[in-house]
Amino acid sequence: MGLLAGLVTDLFSGVVGKLSQERTNGASLLGTLVSPFLALFLTNNPLPNGYPWGTLTDWGTNPYKDWPHTGVIRTYDFTLSRGVIAPDGYQRDVLLVNGAFPGPLIEANWGDKIIVTVRNNITAPEEGTVVHWHGFLQEGTPWEDGAPGVTQCPITPGKTFTYEFIASLYGTTWYHAHYSAQYSGGVVGPMVIHGPSKAKYDIDVGPIMLSDWYHKSYNDIVKQMLAPNGSPRVVSDNNLINGKMNFDCSKVAAGDTKPCTNNAGISKFRLKKGKTHRLRLINAGAEGVQRFTIDGHNLTVIANDFVPVKPYTTKVVTLGVGQRADVLVTANVGDSNSAFWMRSNLSGCAGTPNTPPPANQPFAVAAVYYDAADTSKAPTSKAWDIPDAVRCTNDDLAVTEPLFPMPLPAATFTQTMDISIFKNASDVTLWKFDGVSMRANYDSPVLLQANQGNFTFPTEWNVRNFYGNSSVRIIVHNNSPASHPMHLHGHNFYVLNEGPGEWDGTIVRSSNPQRRDVQLVRPNGHLVLQFDPQPGVWAFHCHVAWHASGGFFSSFVVKPDDVKRMRIPDTVQQTCRQWRAYTSTNVVDQIDSGT
Ligand code: C2O
Repeated sequence: MGLLAGLVTDLFSGVVGKLSQERTNGASLLGTLVSPFLALFLTNNPLPNGYPWGTLTDWGTNPYKDWPHTGVIRTYDFTLSRGVIAPDGYQRDVLLVNGAFPGPLIEANWGDKIIVTVRNNITAPEEGTVVHWHGFLQEGTPWEDGAPGVTQCPITPGKTFTYEFIASLYGTTWYHAHYSAQYSGGVVGPMVIHGPSKAKYDIDVGPIMLSDWYHKSYNDIVKQMLAPNGSPRVVSDNNLINGKMNFDCSKVAAGDTKPCTNNAGISKFRLKKGKTHRLRLINAGAEGVQRFTIDGHNLTVIANDFVPVKPYTTKVVTLGVGQRADVLVTANVGDSNSAFWMRSNLSGCAGTPNTPPPANQPFAVAAVYYDAADTSKAPTSKAWDIPDAVRCTNDDLAVTEPLFPMPLPAATFTQTMDISIFKNASDVTLWKFDGVSMRANYDSPVLLQANQGNFTFPTEWNVRNFYGNSSVRIIVHNNSPASHPMHLHGHNFYVLNEGPGEWDGTIVRSSNPQRRDVQLVRPNGHLVLQFDPQPGVWAFHCHVAWHASGGFFSSFVVKPDDVKRMRIPDTVQQTCRQWRAYTSTNVVDQIDSGT
């Protein structure tokens, strides 16, 4: 991080925010000192052994086969609407969940049922929406997955859709809109599913959302990017921790009259001296790879995405968009008056080494205070000296070993999928994934077609049918100079290998490969993954919002015979009827792939 990060700390050392929490983040309290620690589990209805998960463990229970049946329902009501806030001091139009950015925390125990009613109150102008619950397996409920044109029709303005699913995995995740690049406009929020942990800790600090931030609306960004001769390189304006950061308003473009306030306020965290804390890191951004550190502190990683791992210690955690890491931090550096910078740097990993990240201000900071530290003073700690210019890969697969071991099964089918960027006939720069630049049909989700026995799809939907295969291997070739966080819905895939150039056929620890739901493929490199089938239709795409908008998206039909037999609730069809009725009288301008 070295030099530049030091400069930025000087620029942004104001820790007493000039704007109210309401003005920066609406109804969200994340990143403030009044945001409470989380309980280690929610107490109602515990099963035997005092824990809601009874005797199930993270090291001895196969979570894909067994989870607690708590019978507990966690109900949430979300209203999505437009709003005006200034997360970093620059005021802009955003989209909010219950008036908050980031949106409200969803919290449950492993095995609880989560029910969320989403009301689309996005008006002036109206937009469709859908909300995706990132990383959940949706066993037997693929229609609750929230991918437009894949599992459902968009929720019509003024209407609601009620999502209902079991939290059959536990750990840290997030929800986000999955309609166009809408989530980068603010429809994101954290989710914590409490579960067993072999690694012990005292305090659950809760979610820490890391996200690149743009001063333009997602609509304007996508339209510019996908205009004839538009640039595929989108540049973020800032980097946020729990939705907050300062901005240097002198950098606002001449002629831009939006109010901008310097030193709007950064996030603050309190740690208890001598105690071990669990931090739940989430890259909820649109594009940037995050490099997270806390000055002077080691981080012990205990989970990657929804997969508990054998603990390993590191100074920096790398997260591509969509990825999470649960880390333990012990407050044992200095006395109880100590304060430290928490940092998250957008990494310049698109292109050659030393290419700067596509960001005007790539360095996010937050203040970490031990018990007795004065929270009106800026920390003075020094950054770890770790260069991040060339890092665009996740931690070495040799060190990310799942706590619950699963040997790699034999693959019964292998699919190679190439990533490339090209210009179409109108000079629009788009992405191709396995030969196709995807465009969704909002009116006709793949899942509903498949359920009716129709398995012939237009090429531009980019659907692959894997029939009844018992384990499917995917070899991703990245023929582009950018790294991509590859995400498969409905599964934790095995990561067989990852590296530059072509795959040499070797597998890292086939006795127990890393599993997760997002993995970075490096520039001009390969990523090999494999999944055991979960019946349904599942999106497999690059999680960079701009790349998915540009067509970098596919859908997998998995176990079609089972899909045909599914009894999909009529509310799913009803959402389509509402959408088709709405679009018969309102023109929906599908500015991108749709997802
Ligand atoms: Cu975080 Cu397609 O999802």
